[in-house]
Amino acid sequence: MKLFLDSAILSEIKEAVSWGIVDGVTTNPSLIKKAAQSRGEGEEAIDMEGYIKQILASVGRLCPVSLEVAALSVEEMVEQGKMLYERFDSVAGNAVIKIPVCTMNGRGEGNLFDGIAAINELAEEKIPINATLVFTPEQALLAAKAGAEYVSPFAGRVDDRIRRKAGITFEKPDYFPLNGITDESGKEMVNDYGLLSGVELVARIVEMFREYEIECEVIAASIRNAIQVRECAAVGADIATIPFGVLKSMVMHPGTSDGIDAFTADLVPEYLDLFKADENTGQEVSE
Ligand code: G3P
Repeated sequence: MKLFLDSAILSEIKEAVSWGIVDGVTTNPSLIKKAAQSRGEGEEAIDMEGYIKQILASVGRLCPVSLEVAALSVEEMVEQGKMLYERFDSVAGNAVIKIPVCTMNGRGEGNLFDGIAAINELAEEKIPINATLVFTPEQALLAAKAGAEYVSPFAGRVDDRIRRKAGITFEKPDYFPLNGITDESGKEMVNDYGLLSGVELVARIVEMFREYEIECEVIAASIRNAIQVRECAAVGADIATIPFGVLKSMVMHPGTSDGIDAFTADLVPEYLDLFKADENTGQEVSE
């Protein structure tokens, strides 16, 4: 399973890349906004083109970086997708264009199939596409048929919708059970478009793509905590795109820290001497 970093903050990207476990990066307009706003006082406003080029270069060849279009109509999305690809793929050959699977807004405005048509047109031009804002297996199927190389089911936001429906208050990193929750009566499961959890959405897409041998990678997105990563891995997601904080939480465990304390306390001088100097060469051995 590949791990992508879900961030547009260059310092986070560089740090995570230095750990040697980042296979790619995903950005979106909200993450770019966060990066633009994270400039310290007195720092110059972000030079967006240069900044994005630094991201692409830091992540490196063979590690895809998703960049999202800003427009909502098919013509403009295709134009912007081509522009982004031409301008940024030359940096490290790793640009992927993110297109929303459907650009109709919350007021019902916009053409239903502009996202799918834009994916199709860009894919025909051999531009790799990550279809984003996927909330159902059907949307994933349409995106894959249109030629998307990746689909991004928003697991955490499906869980948010179910909790809101159930009237549950929650914090963003809270765990949501893979098998869903019941309503107030305790008898009926609460669902979102027939799905009991975000991880179920990922699982259904993975199963469908395997069943029909559809060559499109599933990026579990909108990840909220380490257990969700574990569950997305268990259901066969090809990739999980993970926020920096969640990635850090994945390496921590109190048992590991307790073990570190115990091992450190048990270090005997004879063992520590091994690390002081190499008897044969007389050279210091680095710690
Ligand atoms: O990759 C999608 C992601 O950035 C959205 O995450 O936490 O805003 O639902 P979130």
